[in-house]
Amino acid sequence: MNFKTIEWKEGKLILIDQRKLPQKEADFICQTVAEVAVAIREMVVRGAPAIGVTAAFGVALAARDSKASTFSDFQRDIESACDELFATRPTAVIVGWGLERMKRCCQQGESLTVAELKKALLREAETILTEDIEINRQLGKQGAPLIPDNGTVLTHCNAGALATAGHGTALGVLYSAREAGKSFQVFADETRPFLQGARLTAWELAKNGVDVTLITDNMAGHFMQKKAIDCVIVGADRIAANGDVANKIGTYGVAVLAKEHEIPFYVAAPTSTIDLKTPTGEQIPIEEREPQEVTHFYGQVIAPQGIQVKNPAFDVTPHRLVTAIVTERGILEPPFDKAIQKIFDQS
Ligand code: MRU
Repeated sequence: MNFKTIEWKEGKLILIDQRKLPQKEADFICQTVAEVAVAIREMVVRGAPAIGVTAAFGVALAARDSKASTFSDFQRDIESACDELFATRPTAVIVGWGLERMKRCCQQGESLTVAELKKALLREAETILTEDIEINRQLGKQGAPLIPDNGTVLTHCNAGALATAGHGTALGVLYSAREAGKSFQVFADETRPFLQGARLTAWELAKNGVDVTLITDNMAGHFMQKKAIDCVIVGADRIAANGDVANKIGTYGVAVLAKEHEIPFYVAAPTSTIDLKTPTGEQIPIEEREPQEVTHFYGQVIAPQGIQVKNPAFDVTPHRLVTAIVTERGILEPPFDKAIQKIFDQS
């Protein structure tokens, strides 16, 4: 990958500022937990695994800044940093998963000095980052056989290297398929209103030499009808225990279209995205974002002033529309409730 989404360097967390892409490759530097929370909330960094990893570094920064001299005071500082970071974006379950890991690392270090604990928490965040890349590589290998050679794949939003610590999930499958010698084209939905498809997916695929064609969201049905799409692959922010999938707003519509046209609809996500505590998609909290994302386009007003707006950032695709879920531990097929339970019983 010829860019780094998240990097820890000389005591600073360096994020590629995704709000500025594709016009500018600029860094956003975080030195405090508050700066990390802003970066996540304002989508400097976005994509479920990427915000999970970033949040873990936020905890490491809070640890570094802690003035506590006892374990219990230190632990209180860590818990309050976790609460602040947890509140940033509610749909991606991996954020809570990463924060729980950081809390556990703290608890397990009760016998350590505060200085040692600070080091241990930084090490844990670094481990979460390197593991994320490794998991995505494994996931990519698992999913690569699903990609048709010389075919055309549609994706929605950005589930690539920019949405993770590296390699990506849905796009990771495509990168791995290419490494395995396959050639294919990708159609990227622009993904209104935040334009992750146009700004980020088109940018990273082109930068990595993948043949990519940008379309607006409302063109997907047309190209499916014209038999121009062989399969769909998307990422996920949370997968319920029954296999329902929360992902970027518009994913559900693409899945319905894929079903109508008998096109396989694949979801690629690490097992940390599966939430056994959420029985079905109905219980997944859906983040509502600022109306300005809908009423404005690059700072230009495009709607009447004072108009009512809704801006859910995610939707839920019912499991019956999903052909398979690609994870780092294998490909899950329907019935998803049983396949998911089996994978967790084995761990
Ligand atoms: O609002 P975003 O840009 O964070 O939404 C991102 C998505 O919906 C991705 O598809 C999902 O997080 C999977 S990323 C590997």
